[in-house]
Amino acid sequence: MPTDPSAAQLAAAEPDLRHHGDSEVGGGLVDLAVNVRTGTPPAWLRRVLADSLDGLAAYPDGSTARAAVAARHGRAPEEVLLTSGAAEAFVLLARALRPRRAVVVHPQFTEPEAALRDAGHPVERLLLRKEAGFRLDPSAFPSEADLVVVGNPTNPTSVLHPATTLAELARPGRVLVVDEAFADTVPGETESLAARSDVPGLVVLRSLTKTWGLAGLRIGYVLAEPELIARLAAAQPLWPVSSPALTAAIACSSPAALVEADTAAKATVADRDHLLTRLTELPGVRVHGTPEASFVLVELAGADEVRLRLRAAGFAVRRGDSFPGLGPDWLRIAVRDRATTDAFCAALGQALAI
Ligand SMILES: Cc1ncc(COP(=O)(O)O)c(C=O)c1O
Repeated sequence: MPTDPSAAQLAAAEPDLRHHGDSEVGGGLVDLAVNVRTGTPPAWLRRVLADSLDGLAAYPDGSTARAAVAARHGRAPEEVLLTSGAAEAFVLLARALRPRRAVVVHPQFTEPEAALRDAGHPVERLLLRKEAGFRLDPSAFPSEADLVVVGNPTNPTSVLHPATTLAELARPGRVLVVDEAFADTVPGETESLAARSDVPGLVVLRSLTKTWGLAGLRIGYVLAEPELIARLAAAQPLWPVSSPALTAAIACSSPAALVEADTAAKATVADRDHLLTRLTELPGVRVHGTPEASFVLVELAGADEVRLRLRAAGFAVRRGDSFPGLGPDWLRIAVRDRATTDAFCAALGQALAI
């Protein structure tokens, strides 16, 4: 039976939403594919986590961690839900909500769309354009959209949307999910909506993964109005967050930890400037928009081949073709220290010259 070529082409063009950078690392490759800060978790945090093991015989009680996170953002504890990473929050939202018209902004982290589809919800993609620097245009959103999901700063574009633009997307009857998993990589967390309890339907997702190097611990949280928090909590299993993860939430909410995170974010800015300078020296490599997070998205012809050459040279970077709105000519590169960036850019220059 001849197959319908247009359907086959469509299937081939459909990005793999379940592909993530962690499947591109390992085997001794230098990791510029996963955007977790290097040298983490810091020694003091490891010690705090190690001490928490003494309490493992008891079932976890999240009330102290919930209060600590609430205080850190100037919110009430009822406005906080601790989760097993931000990733769990996408699933909870997909299970608890019944959107009639869900709009997911792309390119962005693909799990929110995957979770919504898994739960049986149709999803519309709103593709931001490179010509517009991947910036948001609030007038492009259908007024009937009752669920909108956007990342800020956005993975993989590294674009930081103004808080005012995001707040403009909110309206009664709409849930506006802002994934702020990378907000703490921006000095001063400018443009964060985490403290805003006055924006109707706003849901902010946060993660301790990136800045603190806790991808393996699984700890994040949701900030939203108490009624929605209660609905999301009802979709969680019993004891969803382990006591070491709760300990991390308390420790990383302390004033000293916030200062440390901000210092790290400022160092990231300096390292990112260095990476951007090196990239401009390479022919045919183009950065669209202004990167503001701990990674940079680049366009270059034949990036899919270049990525393989980089792997052969010992460097892993994130492929771009699994993000809706991008394709085989895109790569995402994590910001690293200057020496790593220099070695990487030398390898990239050679990979481009072939
Ligand atoms: C934009 C974004 N949001 C959320 C997550 C998930 O974070 P967590 O480790 O807290 O589940 C990731 C992980 O890569 C991400 O890139």
